[in-house]
Amino acid sequence: MNTNISTKIDIEKIVNSRISEVDFENLVFGSTFTDHMFECDFVDGEWQTPKIRPYQALMLEPSAKVFHYGQAVFEGMKAYKDDDGRVWLFRPEQNQKRINISAKRMAIPEFPEEYFMDGLITLMKMDHEWIKPGEGNSLYIRPFVMATEPGVVASRSNNYKFMIICSPVKPYYKGEVRVEIAQKYSRAADGGVGFAKAAGNYGAQFYPTKLAIEKGYQQVIWTDSNTHQYLEEAGTMNVFFRVNDTLLTAPTSDRILDGVTRKSLIQLAQDMGISVEVRPVAVKEILEASNNGTLKEIFGAGTAAVISPIVSFAYDEKEYDLPRLENSYAQQLKKRVTDIQYNRSEDPYGWRVEVKL
Ligand SMILES: Cc1ncc(COP(=O)(O)O)c(C=O)c1O
Repeated sequence: MNTNISTKIDIEKIVNSRISEVDFENLVFGSTFTDHMFECDFVDGEWQTPKIRPYQALMLEPSAKVFHYGQAVFEGMKAYKDDDGRVWLFRPEQNQKRINISAKRMAIPEFPEEYFMDGLITLMKMDHEWIKPGEGNSLYIRPFVMATEPGVVASRSNNYKFMIICSPVKPYYKGEVRVEIAQKYSRAADGGVGFAKAAGNYGAQFYPTKLAIEKGYQQVIWTDSNTHQYLEEAGTMNVFFRVNDTLLTAPTSDRILDGVTRKSLIQLAQDMGISVEVRPVAVKEILEASNNGTLKEIFGAGTAAVISPIVSFAYDEKEYDLPRLENSYAQQLKKRVTDIQYNRSEDPYGWRVEVKL
């Protein structure tokens, strides 16, 4: 991938960095932000000259359409620092493409590829000191677009703001993850926006997730909206099941996000000689596999958590425990993918992109 900058970006640098105030050992995921942010406005039918300026609050009219009609999409990606201080992105072109797939579904104008990449690389170079080396440390990068045109009339906005903000993070999940399989609520429907990273998908998950949390679970495994018979995603992650030595995961669809981690794990697993079946996974077969002892693992896969092993699930108010395995697929795959991300191993796939400082 070409990482030379060709886009003109207006840059205003911070006067005093906030970095010395940050306790990098005790970060709360997604709540500390780096010194700078990238910003580009869509007005008069085109994207204007992008800017990087100190991270700060925005001025928006209260009638801006994003607040009323939820016309907003986002991405989640990470930068990693290796032990030599080199900075790496993981498959950034996938996020660049996906934000435009999401944007299209939400009638948001596509953001030019070179603006995205040049903005991202320039921001990484400016704020690279916020990326700490070491397992689990990374910079979570949040590109997003929102509808900024004022007017409480339910129609697509004429104006938008594209932004990238960055947050230094430690690993996402702490402790054991117990989940509940959805039997009433749905995350997404056929013909809907489940495949897009549309802001409203996440807002709509909060209530069923709150109910699950009140019952002692951390997440919901979402099922298909028509029948609730097929397992689709775990919280905000794609989900994998290991039955005997085969890994199962649902195919992408209208309702499922085409996760970068998911597709990377499928490739890595196949190359490790693991049998992978990408096909609808029925609740029934997972219950049976749990009952007859062939269900070995369930794990979520996504940028934030990388791989999040699930220790138990609930269905029809009944709890099913997963065995605690040594050398699980989850552990093996997590090692493979993070070794590539942190430049600890060869990258035969060309997934790693260096940000030359
Ligand atoms: C609904 C949903 N599914 C899956 C994922 C995992 O995708 P990725 O691996 O690209 O982070 C995410 C996170 O981005 C998500 O929000």
